[in-house]
Amino acid sequence: MPDVNGAVGVSITRRGYLRAVAAVRVRGDDTATVSRIGEPARLRRPDAARDLVGSIIIGSGMDVPDTIVTNDNLARVMDTTDEWIRRRTGVVERRFAAAGEGASDLGARAGLAAIADAAIHPEEVDVVITATMTPDFLAPGIASLVQHKLGLSTVAAYDIRQQCSGFLYGLEMADALLAAGKAETALVIGTEVHGGFLPFGETWANLFDESPHPPTEAEYERNTRFRSWSVLFGDGAGAVVVRRGTDEDTGILGVRLRSDGALFDLIHVPGVGFSRRPYVDASQLDAELHLPSMRGRELFRNAVELMPDAIRGVAEDTKVELEDIDVVVAHQANARIVEGVRRALGMDEDTVPINIDRYGNTTAATVPILFHELRMDGRIPSGALVCFAAFGAGAHWGAALYREP
Ligand SMILES: CC(C)(COP(=O)(O)OP(=O)(O)OC[C@H]1O[C@@H](n2cnc3c(N)ncnc32)[C@H](O)[C@@H]1OP(=O)(O)O)[C@@H](O)C(=O)NCCC(=O)NCCS
Repeated sequence: MPDVNGAVGVSITRRGYLRAVAAVRVRGDDTATVSRIGEPARLRRPDAARDLVGSIIIGSGMDVPDTIVTNDNLARVMDTTDEWIRRRTGVVERRFAAAGEGASDLGARAGLAAIADAAIHPEEVDVVITATMTPDFLAPGIASLVQHKLGLSTVAAYDIRQQCSGFLYGLEMADALLAAGKAETALVIGTEVHGGFLPFGETWANLFDESPHPPTEAEYERNTRFRSWSVLFGDGAGAVVVRRGTDEDTGILGVRLRSDGALFDLIHVPGVGFSRRPYVDASQLDAELHLPSMRGRELFRNAVELMPDAIRGVAEDTKVELEDIDVVVAHQANARIVEGVRRALGMDEDTVPINIDRYGNTTAATVPILFHELRMDGRIPSGALVCFAAFGAGAHWGAALYREP
């Protein structure tokens, strides 16, 4: 029988939640658990539309590598087909950075493009926020590298680790910092270089038909084992420059962010983490724990339910009708997920655009890349109501409403 020590208390969180907390320590099986009792009672709604003016996006930019890998290229190194990948994911081609190029390089180029588009001087940027799940180094993050590559002075630089929802989380952080008067101008970047965690090894050369021999049977089998997720990803970066707005009817009208650790294993990297000692060793590599593990169907189901929930929620918070939304800039994980979100909301194809066919899933970069392309295509005219939405690893998800000034 384990030894149990417990304590129960009530606390008010900084965001206004009333919370009953039980701290329970169980001895005997080496576990220690802290759990919450019941649902938190809200004293106020943190998602509600604010009295403050929302931040506005004054510039955007993107950067994708030149190297294109088609589905047929992938079929050289694993058992897959262009037809399967197109039909099940919507991806036709993706870009990959050259070995040695990191998320900070693509992020800095996207950031520079956004600064140029905003027609501001780089020195006007007060804070840099970078979202990536594929940092150049395991530690530290890339924010300071991006800041340095952009030639910015010693302004604060934050790393965001919310994967596919990273850009949304970064946008809310920028909005909050601007609203609090902590900064005047923020640069928010989503950037990824996924090549490092793709299982292709020596067969990278086969993708480009640059190898003197075809993949070995073992290489082909290994690549095929990871095909359900490896065909999805591509590299890229997108960025926006955000500034405090002047008008309460435009800019960021509301943001609803959610997380649920119970969904942690929908997609995650099971090894090479600091709960292990040592954090990386040959046994983990042999077991391929350094590569992502994905429960694709469950991920799909949650994404098509929780993204529309967040969109309906932020519309309710800001007293906006769904029919008034001009464009939904949804995370591009899979064209069928975007389609599912569109159908759940009863919207037409034009309102929920897709560009995953050209870039694959660029994780934190999909939302700013799609937003930038739509802006450049004249799809975000003055007064347009834009909804950003994402779902991904963590699980983290959310939606934001933005009215173009
Ligand atoms: C990945 C995804 C497209 C797979 O579709 P699915 O219908 O769930 O497919 P399954 O994984 O069950 O596989 C179905 C079959 O296709 C095969 N398959 C998987 N990947 C394949 C590929 N790239 N090429 C050919 N066949 C493939 C499987 O081996 C399986 O074959 P079997 O029936 O003979 O066993 C889908 O689950 C999905 O989109 N999930 C969300 C993923 C996502 O968005 N991830 C990004 C994180 S935000």
